[in-house]
Amino acid sequence: MISKIQELIKEVEEFSSKKMEEIDQFRIKYLSKKSGIVTDLFKEFKNVPKEEKKEFGQVLNVLKNKVQDKVEFLKVNVKDEGSTKTQLDLSLPGDTEHPGTRHPISIVRNEIIEIFTRLGFTISEGPEIEDDYHVFSALNFPEDHPARDMQDTFFIEQNPDVLLRTHTSSVQVRVMDNENPPIRTISPGRVFRNEAISARAHCIFHQIEGLYIDKNVSFADLKQTLLYFAKELFGEETKIRLRPSYFPFTEPSAEMDISCSLCGGEGCNVCKYTGWLEILGCGMVDPNVLETNNIDSEKYTGFAFGMGIERIAMLKYGIKDLRMYFENDVRFLRQF
Ligand code: PHE
Repeated sequence: MISKIQELIKEVEEFSSKKMEEIDQFRIKYLSKKSGIVTDLFKEFKNVPKEEKKEFGQVLNVLKNKVQDKVEFLKVNVKDEGSTKTQLDLSLPGDTEHPGTRHPISIVRNEIIEIFTRLGFTISEGPEIEDDYHVFSALNFPEDHPARDMQDTFFIEQNPDVLLRTHTSSVQVRVMDNENPPIRTISPGRVFRNEAISARAHCIFHQIEGLYIDKNVSFADLKQTLLYFAKELFGEETKIRLRPSYFPFTEPSAEMDISCSLCGGEGCNVCKYTGWLEILGCGMVDPNVLETNNIDSEKYTGFAFGMGIERIAMLKYGIKDLRMYFENDVRFLRQF
């Protein structure tokens, strides 16, 4: 009898399965209250001769415990397998992927580029670290002229001739160096100014500046080009307004406002109840600039304009704080 139980113990020790069904059958075979092997053996207990009772009882308990432990142990493995199975459950929600989104500055920059390329403008780029000539001198900023203070320049240590460009007009000087009119180009890029960082200003921002030089280019051409641009970007009903201004490289110079895209010109807190929003500077290229860049100012005229992309994206999307562009908070970026 005892040796029979010991054989059963061996059998139990050797049993293994990863299938819940088989483990259940194994448990029922040994422990079923009606006809399990262990249950039957316990019933047998009363017939065992007295002197064997003790050993019989001990061995039988070992068998019972082994069966129970085995069932517990095997069930754990089934659980593991089960969890890999649930990954294949097609009714479970899928793993969401979070593909990146375009930065609002890139979206607006691309939109502006698209509008001007439709009008035949090419795209030109240039270095961010520039020299005085391309940023100031070639653009009619006289040396030591207070106009240079308009753009708080970052100089690169000790050498006042090496600086970070304060506008991408420097790229247009490079274009005039290398090409002959007709020139029709825009220059998008990063610019740098030594300004305190606030909700409305940053020391790094993005510009798109445009230059058009040909025979008979007039102020009317400038105005129509900018009107077309404003309508394309902000909607057909957009109006523009030009106010006289000053830039060393254009004469006459103007600042352009658009009718407030939020209130449609009625007046709201974004346009400070004026109905107008300032979006860019522009003007007719100063003949001095053409001459400095070896373009015959008797033969050619041109217009130029420049705008900050951050400001335009703020107006387009209702962004209230310019610093958000640079913080790269995904909760902000995912909205575009
Ligand atoms: N370069 C000017 C600026 O950065 C903008 C501008 C460009 C104005 C062209 C007039 C003509 O402020």
